[in-house]
Amino acid sequence: MNELQKEIRELAKERKAIILAHNYQPPEIQDVADLTGDSLELSLKAAQTDAEVVVFCGVRFMAETAAIVCPDKLIVFPRMEAGCEMADMIGPEDVENLKAKYPKAPVVTYVNSYVEIKALSDICCTSANAVNVVRALDADEIIFLPDMNLARYTQRFFKEKKIHYFEGFCPFHDVLTVEDVTAARKAHPNAVFMAHPECRPEVIDLADAVRSTSGMLRYAKESDAKEFIIGTEVGLLYPLKKQNPDKNFYPASEKMLCKAMKIISLEDLKKSLETLSPVVKVPEDLRVKAYRAVARMLEIPRT
Ligand code: 13P
Ligand code: SF4
Repeated sequence: MNELQKEIRELAKERKAIILAHNYQPPEIQDVADLTGDSLELSLKAAQTDAEVVVFCGVRFMAETAAIVCPDKLIVFPRMEAGCEMADMIGPEDVENLKAKYPKAPVVTYVNSYVEIKALSDICCTSANAVNVVRALDADEIIFLPDMNLARYTQRFFKEKKIHYFEGFCPFHDVLTVEDVTAARKAHPNAVFMAHPECRPEVIDLADAVRSTSGMLRYAKESDAKEFIIGTEVGLLYPLKKQNPDKNFYPASEKMLCKAMKIISLEDLKKSLETLSPVVKVPEDLRVKAYRAVARMLEIPRT
């Protein structure tokens, strides 16, 4: 750890704060965090921690989810402008339109969305549990928001349920093409190709494994393979290599770079711990409604 990182750890202790960081965060942020993980692991940790302050290093919907599950804690989010392009694609009127079109269908909302959307939903999901969430619903029609790629991936597991989806997507996963994967496979013929379910269906068809970010970390550790092509945001390459120094990881495409995930710096983090700001707050009426959807998701057993 460098001096700045040591100061951050000291400050976190003084402030009784826990630092949570998503697997796509810059290496120096991941290294100073108490916990790194995928969206599901970070939501669970936020819900369970007894720290008074949660400093969230990720994008705004993640900090908002923490504010939804722990209203009594201070949720500090160092750079408010770190948004999510997929979450920005959908508004409450889009949800109301889909509900009017499919009145009997429960609404499943990917956590990559803002509190207004979660508040209109029956249950949330992450990329790690979407299939389990849909399986748990006693319904033959489902509305799925806002990621059409995760919706179409989830649909593959159900013949008897019809998933109606909103046509949102993550630009940094949807950008990956069959041609990119073919070129990467040609360059690394012995590599396993892992894809995130936010990728397009034709890319998913080429994958040896489809996983959330932490699912990819577990898969790489457990696999006998020595080389992997990574079909997710390039930030995951750092923890993959750190946890598996004897294995090699190649990005499926350098285009898979989410700028919002790289905004928070160590300086920002230090300042946030000193000032305990900026703070993410959600209006209480929306929080209560969104909480139901998130809490219902957290009760679904993990497999
Ligand atoms: P997971 O880490 O939950 O797989 O999510 C990926 C993502 O796009 C987060 O923004
Ligand atoms: Fe949003 Fe995509 Fe960035 Fe994840 S990688 S935060 S889904 S824009």
